[in-house]
Amino acid sequence: MLSFGFMRSTAIRFSPFIINHPSSPSSCFSFSPKKTIAFALRSQMGSFTTLSQSSSSKLLFRQLFEKESSTYTYLLADFSHPDKPALLIDPVDKNVDRDLSLVRELGLKLIYAMNTHVHADHITGTGLIKGKVTGVKSVISRASGSKADVFVEPGDKISFGNLFLEVRATPGHTAGCVTYVTGDGPDQPHPRMAFTGDALLIRGCGRTDFQGGSSEQLYNSVHSQIFTLPKETLLYPAHDYKGFTVTTVGEEMVYNPRLTKDEETFRSIMQNLNLAYPKMIDVAVPANMVCGLQDLEPKTN
Ligand SMILES: [Fe+2]
Repeated sequence: MLSFGFMRSTAIRFSPFIINHPSSPSSCFSFSPKKTIAFALRSQMGSFTTLSQSSSSKLLFRQLFEKESSTYTYLLADFSHPDKPALLIDPVDKNVDRDLSLVRELGLKLIYAMNTHVHADHITGTGLIKGKVTGVKSVISRASGSKADVFVEPGDKISFGNLFLEVRATPGHTAGCVTYVTGDGPDQPHPRMAFTGDALLIRGCGRTDFQGGSSEQLYNSVHSQIFTLPKETLLYPAHDYKGFTVTTVGEEMVYNPRLTKDEETFRSIMQNLNLAYPKMIDVAVPANMVCGLQDLEPKTN
């Protein structure tokens, strides 16, 4: 079922125009009087247009951080489109007000609140966002088994103005993990950008011992769906615990200490991590299976 600008196997769009250098984490413009915003944005656009962009599409990109779970939330918008349509990837409940305030200040129209997977370490912000912004659709993979407004499958394209994200299935950390990759085409960001969730972390990967995880699947997902992207593709994970913000396909193919190994060695590494039971899992997973909406459901007493 395709809707709301989702097209299967055909290009999708989303629009508008600003760009921030993709390796700059949550950097912001600092300008105060509202009247100067448009001018400031134009000025900043000039100094941050470091990705090659077509004249018709400009990506506004922000990497936002939630410190308790070390989660990254990503804001993308087509700033060259009159509506400035935007989407959030992996919003966290605690930071919904911050994220929505940024969306407002930049004059964006939020249309999608998306998750890469059902998280075990924090509660998604998608349910709260839907309650605060009319018309926003929650998005998750059909394979996740979670509730959402829109379920995506491999090959789907998610449009925002003249830009789009492509959906790639990358199971292994959970059964329903997906990676969202910016489009391939003259009007799309170059280099491409991939939002890998927990499938691939910078010099690491997500654990595979819960939520339908499988080290064999994860190994195959990363090698077939992520490492096959152009080497200059920028990779943005759902978490980082060391302060890194971005990596590339080429870098991880050489330096990832787990995924550069052969499959058998990778399986053995993953089996012997001896990680503690995730402290939030019993709260976060049930909440995220209903898209973080559980607190919004009517109370019976
Ligand atoms: Fe996760």
